Amino acid sequence: MKLYRIPEPGAIENLTLAEAPDPAPGDDEVLIRVRAVSLNFRDLMVVRGTYGRGRHRPNLVPCSDGAGEVIAIGNQVSRVKVGDRVAGIFMQKWIAGGVTAEGAPQAGASALGGAIDGMLAEQVVLHEDGLVHLPEHLSYEEGSTLPCAAVTAWHAVVDFGRTRAGETVLVLGTGGVSIFALQFARMHGARVIATSSHEEKIRRAHALGADATVNYKSFPEWQHGVLEATAKRGVDLVVEVGGAGTLPRSIDSVRFGGKIALIGVLTSGEINPAMLMRKSATLQGIYVGSREMFLAMNRAIALHKMRPVIDRVFEFDQAQEAYRHLASASHFGKLVIRVG
Ligand SMILES: NC(=O)c1ccc[n+]([C@@H]2O[C@H](COP(=O)([O-])OP(=O)(O)OC[C@H]3O[C@@H](n4cnc5c(N)ncnc54)[C@H](OP(=O)(O)O)[C@@H]3O)[C@@H](O)[C@H]2O)c1
Repeated sequence: MKLYRIPEPGAIENLTLAEAPDPAPGDDEVLIRVRAVSLNFRDLMVVRGTYGRGRHRPNLVPCSDGAGEVIAIGNQVSRVKVGDRVAGIFMQKWIAGGVTAEGAPQAGASALGGAIDGMLAEQVVLHEDGLVHLPEHLSYEEGSTLPCAAVTAWHAVVDFGRTRAGETVLVLGTGGVSIFALQFARMHGARVIATSSHEEKIRRAHALGADATVNYKSFPEWQHGVLEATAKRGVDLVVEVGGAGTLPRSIDSVRFGGKIALIGVLTSGEINPAMLMRKSATLQGIYVGSREMFLAMNRAIALHKMRPVIDRVFEFDQAQEAYRHLASASHFGKLVIRVG
């Protein structure tokens, strides 16, 4: 079978097409014919060698997010059967419950396409616990977008944010996590304010249900636009994908007693946390989510027939081009690589 490896990280060109023997499942494992893989900003950091505090696994098979068909199972497998349509979970060993000092290292050490080999391969073997079934109405391409970006957005908006009808959620930019956050916030009856650096993307965010938008390139003090759009009250929840460079303005944008879900590392900067304290606002780190969250999210996606927003689908031999497209940040929502 064919697969991609990163012999040594450094640049997108290090992503190397290779051959490997077809894998076979052990007693409690599942063999999946991967049909689609989606890209996350993390995959860029992994190939460039800037992810995970500089540690990397030589010859890593990249990408956390993939969906496919079960083609063989071990003799003790009971959660899935041959023919089922499944996606892997980001951290193979974070099944349920919150983050604990005992569970976190084990969960972190089981992250696909980082700590362990990932999904950019024609076939993969995963433990039966590390899978979820795809919502029936989704294609493999759509299903492949869920494990990282969608679960992270669900964790932020629903598990942490407890977003309720009539509240206001701010999403930064129009990448994978932010567009899912927009969709989940709308699903829960919330009003959404979105920022973006492109007028065309702003138009698309409105079409998806964003009520107000601010162009953060032409309006660098975008927090004033957010406050204006909330009659100076501020938003109930910020889905913070920018990191240190955007956090000060996110703190300005949140209401007294509001919440900020700290997710991203796209920008750098300095933070004075005093206003967070004065506002009695809550800042919570979010690291993807558990299988329990993934399953809850899939039930909601199925009920609402929600469809992930895919910007573009690349073929398997165009993986480097897909990564370059991600690096250009010209996408809206998700980028997908079709496999087999
Ligand atoms: N903690 C976690 O578990 C977790 C999970 C997933 C992702 N993340 C992190 O979250 C971030 C987003 O990931 P992703 O996969 O959604 O990325 P992505 O799809 O590559 O999205 C990138 C988008 O972010 C927007 N952006 C860039 N700089 C910005 C700024 N200064 N202000 C506002 N928006 C900005 C841009 O939107 P426009 O083009 O519209 O301007 C850009 O297109 C990354 O840092 C990633 O590592 C963390």
